[in-house]
Amino acid sequence: MRKVIIIGAGLSGLACAVTLAKAGRECLLISKQVSERAQSVLAEGGINAALDVMGENDDAALHFEDTMKGGCYLANEEAVRGLTENAPGIVRWLMGLGVPFNMENGRIVQRAFGGQKKRRTAFAKSSTGKMIMSALIDEARKYEAAGLITRKPNREFIRLITNGSECRGVLTADTRSGQCFEEHGVSVMCTGGMNGIFPGVTTGTTANSGDAAAMLYLQGVRFSNLEMIQYHPTTIAIAGKRCLVTEAARGEGGRLFINKGGQRYYFMEDRHPELGNLSPRDVVAREMFFVRRESEGEGVYLDMTGIDESVWLRRLPDLREEIKEQTGTDAKSEPIPVKEGIHYFMGGIDVDTRHRTSMKDLYAAGECTSIYHGANRLGGNSMLGAIYGGRTAAEDIIASYGVQDGQEEKESVHSLSEEYAAEADTGLIYRIRDILLSGLGIVRNESEIKKSIAELSLLKGERQYNLRERARIELADALLECALIRRESRGAHYREDYPKRDDERFGSMTYAQYENGRAIYGFKGRSEGEA
Ligand code: FUM
Repeated sequence: MRKVIIIGAGLSGLACAVTLAKAGRECLLISKQVSERAQSVLAEGGINAALDVMGENDDAALHFEDTMKGGCYLANEEAVRGLTENAPGIVRWLMGLGVPFNMENGRIVQRAFGGQKKRRTAFAKSSTGKMIMSALIDEARKYEAAGLITRKPNREFIRLITNGSECRGVLTADTRSGQCFEEHGVSVMCTGGMNGIFPGVTTGTTANSGDAAAMLYLQGVRFSNLEMIQYHPTTIAIAGKRCLVTEAARGEGGRLFINKGGQRYYFMEDRHPELGNLSPRDVVAREMFFVRRESEGEGVYLDMTGIDESVWLRRLPDLREEIKEQTGTDAKSEPIPVKEGIHYFMGGIDVDTRHRTSMKDLYAAGECTSIYHGANRLGGNSMLGAIYGGRTAAEDIIASYGVQDGQEEKESVHSLSEEYAAEADTGLIYRIRDILLSGLGIVRNESEIKKSIAELSLLKGERQYNLRERARIELADALLECALIRRESRGAHYREDYPKRDDERFGSMTYAQYENGRAIYGFKGRSEGEA
């Protein structure tokens, strides 16, 4: 019987562990940080499910349509069907675990979120992630007490242990002692988004360093959709990162404007009358970029002054507090300046509908994967995708490997080799980031992307790099190459040199795979060289 090792203790890792444990399957839950500090805790606005409690005739088919349309039809259709059909059950399960979703008259309420025609985002004020994580951590503790989940925090993923194209387990290191551990078994990567590839400019924690993704890439695991990087329209620059102003602010009535000719110009309402301020994120972020460029230097503001005091109190109290803390402004009485910031990676480890990767006995779930969100993720679908993905991986493991005790594959301990102990140089990390930002902004074009690729290639030849550095450079290259070959505009990938969508040539996800020292890029469903 194979041991199950989950890497990452955020939402997808916990969902996977709890599902395994509930079926009586033991697992190891290894993470760099404790669950309480995972990125998932920072999720604010809510989780989508067609509960149909708002009297709007919502159903899973409409949720499916909005998700596919929002992602510009790049997401895996069958997987999105499963995601949206299971969403109501997941929210009800979370309620059963005690998540304090906002209720009115004894019933859950749902708010409007971007790119969706119905109010279907269930929320716990604007701290939904924190509340869901607390409930899941509690649930995991029960199984921990029963000996079914063994948590090992302060352990960093170093690399996969492989045997040809098969994953045999993982090598991890204790972040304090540096001691190294080999764990053999079926492995599930739940390592989150690649924030650390873009330090300082994302809403996410840089504890999600991107090192795990980079190492997997270097070890031959297939990635997809890497060019699809989501810029959230409303962030505030604070020391060392971007502070998220949840989309719920617009869901509850917030409006974006820019000063034009001495007047406030509410550009989303004028240019996108159907969904206005709640258009999909790619549309809003791009329009912000354009109006700023047209106005030569004016900034964009979020006007929340029209939101009722009672709504602030019941639905957004923590947001108001946070904005005040970060900017000194009470958003109830004054608009706040906002800017687009990197928020989510739609691309990542390529998985099938059962969350299997291209490598045998290796699964992945959560933001580190690419499957549900296509070219643009809808707000509120990320926690849903993480929970459903973790659960789906666990169910497939149970179906494929059984539920008996999996602990006979012992851990082996040794000291960390110098090669793997070496950190990536901070200066290098920032240089790679800047190269990527030039090529992978909200508006892209061939010459900028090629320039970035050329700069990266020069950097490659500059010196000898340690393994982590090399992996990071190769992954950065893959992000740029995928953006280069998608010669069209779709979702978060906007090419001013190819401003139209071209379904015939580019209607599938890109992929990137590193094999025998060579990277291959292309479009899924086409043979090599057709890109
Ligand atoms: O704006 C937000 O609250 C973000 C939610 C999400 O990315 O799902």
